Parts: sequence; C-alpha cells; structure tokens
Amino acid sequence: MKDILLKTALAESIIHCGVGTFEKFAQKFADKQIFVVTDSNVYAIYNSLLINTFGNYKGYVIPAGEESKNPENLLKILKAMLESGMRRNCYVIALGGGVVGDIAGLAASLYMRGTNLVQIPTTLLAQVDSSVGGKTAVDMNGVKNVIGAFYQPEEVIVDPLFLKTLPDRELRCGLGEIVKYAALNKDILDKLLNTENLFSFNFLEDITYDCIAHKAEVVKKDEHDLNGLRKTLNLGHTTGHALELYYGLKSHGEFVLIGMFYELYIAQTLGLCDSEYAEKLKKLISGVIPEIPSFENISKAAEYALHDKKNDDEKISLIVPKAEGKCIEIKICLSEYTKYLLSCSENLRGQK
Ligand code: NAD
Ligand code: GLY
Repeated sequence: MKDILLKTALAESIIHCGVGTFEKFAQKFADKQIFVVTDSNVYAIYNSLLINTFGNYKGYVIPAGEESKNPENLLKILKAMLESGMRRNCYVIALGGGVVGDIAGLAASLYMRGTNLVQIPTTLLAQVDSSVGGKTAVDMNGVKNVIGAFYQPEEVIVDPLFLKTLPDRELRCGLGEIVKYAALNKDILDKLLNTENLFSFNFLEDITYDCIAHKAEVVKKDEHDLNGLRKTLNLGHTTGHALELYYGLKSHGEFVLIGMFYELYIAQTLGLCDSEYAEKLKKLISGVIPEIPSFENISKAAEYALHDKKNDDEKISLIVPKAEGKCIEIKICLSEYTKYLLSCSENLRGQK
C-alpha cells in the first residue's frame, strides 16, 4: 500500500493505492453522513460489501453505461441527496467506473455549493485516470463532458480488489489509458515494453501507481488545464472522443487507443514522430486491441472533433507522440484532419 499526495492551490487529495486500501480506509466513513453513488452493475456485485462496510447507507444507483452521464441523472442524484437529508458536511462516495466518478463528483461540487467527495474507482480506467485530478462532468446534446467542474476528491481509494470482477473488455479499456501514459512517460513505456503479461494483477497494481503518480504531478502544475501541460493527458482523446460520439459501439478506453493509433498515423505522415518509436507504440496498442478497426463514414465522425474542448479556434487540436516521453500539440483544419482519418482507415481496410 502506498499513498500519493496531490496538493493543489485550494485542495488536497490523498490517493491510497494498493491491495487492502478499501478495507483499511473506507471503514472510517462509516460514522460520517455518507451518500453512495454507484451504477446498477457495481451495485449488484458490491452492495453486500457496502452494507458490511457502512451499514444501512443512503445512496443513488444510476443505470450502468455512458448514456447515464447526463444532466437528468445529475438532478436525480441531487434530489435524492436533498430528500435523504444530506448536510453540507456529508461525504459523497463515488463507487464505480469513470461514469459514476464524473457524475457523482459533479453532484458533490454542486450540492450546497460543495460537499466532501471520496472516489472509490472500480474500473481500471477509473483507477489509473478518471478518479484522480478533479475533473467532473456530464455529457449533453451529444457533446462529451460539456457540463462540468473541477472538484478535487478529499480521498481516492484505489484497490485492485475491484478489478477481480471486471470483464476482460473493461480491463482492455483501462490498458488504453495506461498505454496513453506510456506515450507520455518513458519509465512507464519501458515497464510496458518489458512486462511479459500486461494483464497480470501484480503488474497492473504497480503500473497503476506509476500512472497516478504521473497524473498527480501534471495536475499539481496545471490543475485547471490552463498552461498546456494537462492537455497532454488527452493524447489520443480528440479522435477517440469523436469516434466514440459518432459510432458509440465501443467504450471510452477502447476509443482512446483507436484514437491514439489514428493520431499516430497523422504524426508519422506529417513527419513529426520518429518511426522506431511509433512502431513501439503500435506494438503496445496491438497488445491491447489486436485489430484496429477501419470505419465507414469516418468523415462524418471527424466533424465531432470540432467540439473538442482543447480547440480554441476553428482548428482541431491533437496531442501527438513525438519521441519517448515527449508529445506535441498540433492544430489542423477539418479538411486536412478528415483526409488523414480517411487514408488511415483505408490503409487498415487494405490490410484485412
Ligand atoms: P464505466 O464507468 O461505464 O464502467 C464500465 C463498465 O464496467 C460499466 O458497465 C460498469 O457498470 C462496469 N463496472 C464498473 N466496475 C466494475 C467492477 N468492479 N466489476 C464489474 N463491472 C464493473 O466506464 P469507465 O471506462 O470506467 O469510464 C469511462 C468514463 O470515464 C467516460 O465517461 C469518460 O469520459 C470518463 N473519464 C473521465 C476522466 C476524468 O478525468 N474525469 C478521465 C478519463 C475518462
Ligand atoms: N483525463 C484527462 C485529465 O484528467 O485531464
């Protein structure tokens, strides 16, 4: 078990990492006023653990899935908190994946202008990324994360215990974000390239700590995404989000990896990324998703990239890998972006 302290200008988050952290740290909230937000899948598996830990707790269960990350469910959570008599000093406990973490975090930031928040991430993706750093949000009108706030959790409990019930596909989604960190951090890259089994629990426990430590350093220096540093955590995400919104067939983490692959193609075509390094990243990507898909109508999906929050003008902002541990931001117009996505997709189709 190891802790990471994430201290920002206004807040302090303690992130407890490792096997046994749930048992050790969750218990102390049992005598506080708590409100647990979770989703239907997690509730079905972990309700008895919640009762054993917190007794007869109050809470709200959203249906599992990204579609639940919407303003209507946000209001339902807030209403349930009010009706349960939650006070301002209550603790919102977000037990679930990134969907639960994002919506519960936003509810905690709004209720009585802000309650305490504890994130207990139960997916690998939420453990390595979304539960840390204070970004909270819901989607609206087909635009991802468009209503949100920065709101740091007081504590984050990252216990690999929860990964035991996680479907294989969700493990791959988490590995998608881990590969993103590998593109940002040479030590993480080396560990990923040198492990025999990306899916082993010991390896995941170790690499999760490294990814969180990387993210915590970035968030300390750019909590509100203002100086360009935090943007790097969105490597692969512009295209990933655009494909996710248009096709919606896969999960966030899978689309991040697919987005990384397409953006790597753009970086290579523009001569921005060293080929030997690009091959290393492709090897990692295909270790998680063996077949990167080509897409029909990709030019329509490309238009969704225009909504990305990183864009500050008409151009599309992409964070692309450059060399080991280094990435850069490029800005390209929609027609050029579409041309590259089409040619990458056609290349992939040709390989089948
Ligand atoms: P998710 O929350 O939808 O969880 C994926 C699936 O796993 C769901 O069906 C869920 O019910 C199930 N599940 C969760 N824990 C489980 C467990 N222990 N055992 C069995 N099943 C379990 O998706 P996710 O991939 O965790 O998160 C994706 C979301 O996170 C997206 O909305 C994305 O925008 C957001 N995100 C936010 C940030 C941030 O910084 N706030 C960063 C990355 C992603
Ligand atoms: N996952 C991107 C961020 O936290 O900034």
